[in-house]
Amino acid sequence: MWKGRFSQDTSSLVQQFGESISFDWRLYPHDIAGSIAHARAQMVAALLTAEEFSAIEAGLRGIQADIEAGNFEFKSSLEDIHMNIEAELTRRIGPAGAKLHTARSRNDQVATDTRLYCRAQVDMLTDLIRGLQRALLGQAERHAATVIPGYTHLQRGQPVTAGHHFLAYVEMLERDGSRLADCRRRLNVSPLGSGALAGSTINLDREAIAAELGFGGVTRNSMDAIADRDYIAEMLFAIALCGAHLSRLSEDLILWCSSEFAFVTLSDAHTTGSSLMPQKKNPDVCELTRGKTGRLTGNLVNLLVALKGLPLTYNRDLQEDKPPLFDSVDTLALVLAVNTEMVAALEFREDRCRQAAADPMLLATDLADHLVKAGIPFRHAHELVGKAVAEAVRTGTPLDRLDFPALDPAFPADSASVFSLDRALAARTNPGAPSPENVRAEIARLKVVVG
Ligand code: ARG
Repeated sequence: MWKGRFSQDTSSLVQQFGESISFDWRLYPHDIAGSIAHARAQMVAALLTAEEFSAIEAGLRGIQADIEAGNFEFKSSLEDIHMNIEAELTRRIGPAGAKLHTARSRNDQVATDTRLYCRAQVDMLTDLIRGLQRALLGQAERHAATVIPGYTHLQRGQPVTAGHHFLAYVEMLERDGSRLADCRRRLNVSPLGSGALAGSTINLDREAIAAELGFGGVTRNSMDAIADRDYIAEMLFAIALCGAHLSRLSEDLILWCSSEFAFVTLSDAHTTGSSLMPQKKNPDVCELTRGKTGRLTGNLVNLLVALKGLPLTYNRDLQEDKPPLFDSVDTLALVLAVNTEMVAALEFREDRCRQAAADPMLLATDLADHLVKAGIPFRHAHELVGKAVAEAVRTGTPLDRLDFPALDPAFPADSASVFSLDRALAARTNPGAPSPENVRAEIARLKVVVG
């Protein structure tokens, strides 16, 4: 399709090196939609007759049907999806097919296709995020009052509820969804009409083409439109960060299902055994989620590095944008789906949670707060409680069994009353804090948001 000035055939190695049809074939529905909108604008501009337009449209829809039925042979000699479809169209309908590429370049075509692809994938991923949020909300609802230790530095810190812990991930996923929505809003403009880099001397109605494709408008600079891939980088970042969130959830669950924690049991359907050690029940889904997050991050870095040295405008390097994009979309979709199932099916071992949460050290901060309420400055209160903790550790006495006023007269007589988990949690009523009442109110709010 570009052989006019060449007298030698392309080396077969170069063909193998340069083809993208092995991966960009999946842009076909977007390529076809873009071509139909472009052809319609050509008809309106009197570059095609109504009959020619109809032949192009019917020919393209026939090709789409054949691809979907698995009856289309993609040829690597035709490099990419754009040339595969156009060549086949011309083969099927004759000369009208050869007019389709008027006032268009593969450069604005590929930018259009990838924007349409990203838009569809944002919608698909958003639905999957919602699904995982619903599974997390289900667990939060069941465990709005299941007390577990909250950790910093993986050391027991203060009591929280399992419900509150899960809602933290619902919040993260909500921001992941809004990052994708934000990215969708910015990418949803039509590059068609930008041509190879400098528009065209043949004017088609860009706004009409954009409207037909559901774009919110048109790109404003032909060079920017075909040279930048920032919308793909944004997608890859939003996906990588969502992966990082799920990797942290995985890490929590890996710890929680270990014998050392034993807060949860993962279902048999979402764990695997060992071929050697018969007792093993391994959290492979969590580990793979954590592992695949490395790939998601790598895909983002891959594109950023590819972009950084490119002079304007199009350079063939840009063809390398698609493997990381497709891989990240596919990977996150699978990660979200499998985590949704796994989270919905996991069971809490409430006895173990209760046992861990019964550690009176979790309420050391509450004891300091108690002293503050009796008028002692916090730094002083912190030191007094620190001394009590040291005494408990030294004598092997549980913190709640110490004789506080004997330790230091500054302790109020009722200091031991602090050591009630129910009371401690119920008192955490500030917005965002984990009182069971708050957690239930947050669940109700988020159910409306998540739908
Ligand atoms: N397959 C190419 C890509 O993905 C399409 C654009 C080709 N443009 C060109 N001038 N060779 O980037």
